[in-house]
Amino acid sequence: MKYKVLALSVLALIIYSCASKSSVPTTEVKKTEPTAEVKIATVMTPELAEGKSLYENNCAKCHKLYDPKDFSAEQWKPIVASMQKKAHLDDAAGQKIYNYVTMN
Ligand code: HEC
Repeated sequence: MKYKVLALSVLALIIYSCASKSSVPTTEVKKTEPTAEVKIATVMTPELAEGKSLYENNCAKCHKLYDPKDFSAEQWKPIVASMQKKAHLDDAAGQKIYNYVTMN
């Protein structure tokens, strides 16, 4: 009886050690790539694309096309308001241009 218990415990030990060995992951855990730089830029919607083309087609007639980054959203407001008049554009077009130049 004692022998049986010993045999059983030995068997259990063997099974346990085998089981614990096989539980070691065989596949190497791949390190995940550092997350790609999060894009802050707004996605170009059709509306913004329209603003872009309005801007490019109407706002470089009298001077070079200004870089949208040259001015802040706060600065663009009065600029677009006065420039849309110079370019003979309506408020809707002016708004689209404003949205485009201030998208980032
Ligand atoms: C009819 C000619 C004309 C058109 C068209 C025109 N501009 Fe201008 N723009 C000017 C003149 C002249 C100035 C400089 C004097 C002024 O600010 O009025 C100027 C200046 C600017 C400036 C510089 C403002 C500053 O404070 O330095 C920006 C930016 C600008 N325009 C953007 C635009 C945009 C955007 C459009 C299209 C909606 C546009 N312009 C269309 C004549 C024009």
